[in-house]
Amino acid sequence: MSDFPKNLIQADDLNSEHLKLIFDKAKYFEDNFTNTIQNGEHFPDLKGRTVALAFFENSTRTRNSFELAAKRLSSDVLNFSANQSSLAKGESIADTIRTIDAMMVDIYVVRNQYNGTPAFIASITNNIVVNAGDGKHEHPTQAILDAYTILKHYGKVDGLNVSIIGDIINSRVARSNITMLRTLGADVKLFGPGTLLPRHLNCWNAPIHDNINDAIEWSDVIILLRIQNERMDSGLLPSISEYVKFYQINVANFAKKDKIILLHPGPVNYGVELEHNASKLHNSMIDRQVTNGVFTRMAVLSLLANR
Ligand code: CP
Repeated sequence: MSDFPKNLIQADDLNSEHLKLIFDKAKYFEDNFTNTIQNGEHFPDLKGRTVALAFFENSTRTRNSFELAAKRLSSDVLNFSANQSSLAKGESIADTIRTIDAMMVDIYVVRNQYNGTPAFIASITNNIVVNAGDGKHEHPTQAILDAYTILKHYGKVDGLNVSIIGDIINSRVARSNITMLRTLGADVKLFGPGTLLPRHLNCWNAPIHDNINDAIEWSDVIILLRIQNERMDSGLLPSISEYVKFYQINVANFAKKDKIILLHPGPVNYGVELEHNASKLHNSMIDRQVTNGVFTRMAVLSLLANR
């Protein structure tokens, strides 16, 4: 396992063999959850280690799942909140990391609103760095938990048709998923308004669906993205009602097909990209993604720390 990367910054840090190791390890933690965690015990993988959760941007799923993952692996956890730190007094990120390094942590899990912050932190510390979402760049552990969710449902990812729908231009989840799903052999198509598709689309060589019904008909998996108002430049989405009419997944269009699953990284804008009742259909994986997020992040932390 010596070629397992030291840091996880972006999806192409991992090849298909690394991903298989992660999925096998996640399954081990899932299969042994009852006889270990629910029996009042912890897995020993990170015993004696300290994980620093350095979140410079809000998060519910990623932050809490990394905290649970670290604790279930016997790690100490240092919760670092940017807005309650000396960053608010003007201290730099470099000095902040130097200070936390001096407290002898082992792993940084970093979320930041700016592209490249986890890579920058990896360049100034000897500790392990995991990207928990940076700006519009990447969110590799989201792609891992999405792929694990697909794998558990279909028993494979290779050969499946996956459509990523919505606000692709602002989405770090889309970037990580396109790379990782292709590494695993899936065929990926995109769909969204022209203003929410990136200009460098041709570099990805990803075909675009003509309409939402074609996307549903072609797909084994739909990954629906949140409209990211906080990252919207301006004027990219002139009308929510037009968006709903042409791009929303709802019971009327989604329930037409049986062999398909729906993923969404959350948080969901109900009534915009997704109708609330559609999220309750039997083939909506949204809650299972959250559950799988803990097991896959346990696997990532364990493999990075014990390479
Ligand atoms: N999917 C995701 O990154 O959600 P959070 O912002 O709640 O962590």
